Amino acid sequence: MLDTLGIALIGCGTVGGGVADILLRHKDRLASRSGRPIALRRVVVRDTSKLRDSAIPKELISTDHAAAIHDPTVHVVVELIGGTTTAKKVVLDALAAGKHVVTANKALLADAGHELFEAARKAERCVCFEAAVAGGVPIIRALGESLAANQVTAIQGILNGTSNFILTAMAERGMSYAVALAEAQKLGYAEADPTLDVDGSDAAHKLAVLAQIAFGVAARPHEIQRQGIDTLDAMDIRFADELGYTIKLLAEAWTSGEGGRRKAEGGKDETDSAFRLPPSALNWVALHVAPVLLRHTDLLAQVRGAYNAILVHGDIVGETLYQGPGAGRGPTASSVVADIIDIAVGRAQRTFAAAQLWSTANKGFAIEPAERVRSRFYLRLLVADKPGVLADVTRILADEEISISSVVQHEAAESGGSPVPLVIVTHYAETGRFKTALKKINALATVAAPAVFFSMGD
Ligand code: NAP
Ligand code: HSE
Repeated sequence: MLDTLGIALIGCGTVGGGVADILLRHKDRLASRSGRPIALRRVVVRDTSKLRDSAIPKELISTDHAAAIHDPTVHVVVELIGGTTTAKKVVLDALAAGKHVVTANKALLADAGHELFEAARKAERCVCFEAAVAGGVPIIRALGESLAANQVTAIQGILNGTSNFILTAMAERGMSYAVALAEAQKLGYAEADPTLDVDGSDAAHKLAVLAQIAFGVAARPHEIQRQGIDTLDAMDIRFADELGYTIKLLAEAWTSGEGGRRKAEGGKDETDSAFRLPPSALNWVALHVAPVLLRHTDLLAQVRGAYNAILVHGDIVGETLYQGPGAGRGPTASSVVADIIDIAVGRAQRTFAAAQLWSTANKGFAIEPAERVRSRFYLRLLVADKPGVLADVTRILADEEISISSVVQHEAAESGGSPVPLVIVTHYAETGRFKTALKKINALATVAAPAVFFSMGD
């Protein structure tokens, strides 16, 4: 049997506590899967006096990062503190000290992937990050290894468990946004700063990581157009339901080979797929995060609670779906420990060296401005209940060559009097032209509040 692999955990909160538990309770299982013992040697936290619910021997716990990183019996440093400042220093110091790194920190990868991975290559060590995207769902391995024969042409995913939990609770239990968010925080799904979950940032960080693997794109978080669920009104969940749709926060990537949208006008079948296109046709990818209306029957519409799901379209395999718990202690710790086992076996080091992620040698696809993406749109206005209002709105849409698919307006009495909600669903339109129309619509004297809009998933 090989020597013991020593682990230092930097951060022992929701995820770190779960990792410590697995390392301490399942020693035999891990040794048999790794071909060597794995031992927890050090645990670094902010506050050593805090009560921890895992049975970590007290003498392992300290606040001393450097001592843990430089301990010669530690071979792998597991960064689970979050954020991008101390966490970045921990990762760079660990690599410089010749340690492999495992992290669940998607914000850090999206922000500084290039710097961290160059440092790892220089140190001939690896950085593993299965837990950084979709918690317990092995999407990093699926994209990087299992689908390696393919060129991925589209990704569509529910990547934030907290947002999906909130949307499900609002739609199914009529729970308020604030109460649902508080429950997600209590269950350990949310980030330390939950703004990242609900404003789309966390999903954008994860999409940036997936885009690096699938398209070789080093998208910085600000390059990903994003809209969260923080301004979502329960009224839109009800209107969407009335139209036969569920609202989900989706992270999406579309390549040029997909005609700008996964399901093109009129419904595209597999024979039109990018598989048939010359590689030169796949030269850009559009990346965005936004609430999207999905038909109730759509696979992703049925993903509930803190579950995540990712549809990946590969040019050879076609469409594949990955689903599972996307946040929380057990699922995330499960992925972290899988990375530790991969390092113990020696697989991770080889995969890391071959993949050349965030490398300047990796040219990747260009990022297409989100304005060019074509979509159908849900538009909800609050308008004065007067003659000519609908005509003004439809004329503005027509000027941008946007055709209307359906209109819903209830009796004023039913809607609580004037102004009344007016919901319009459009046919396919270019996002840029739709936004130009929105500016003009918002300027109408009869429109009482800024227009609310979402993409339609079909
Ligand atoms: P958490 O519960 O807030 O735990 C953070 C831990 O880091 C705590 O133990 C804290 O110490 C420690 N810490 C904070 N600052 C520190 C510092 N400067 N030095 C040493 N220790 C420090 O966070 P979490 O939910 O476990 O998340 C950890 C990471 O995993 C984040 O990057 C997050 O994005 C990622 N992640 C989380 C989930 C999830 O479902 N929660 C899922 C996937 C990925 P104290 O305990 O003493 O306060
Ligand atoms: N806060 C994140 C989420 C944790 O809710 O999805 C998993 O990355």
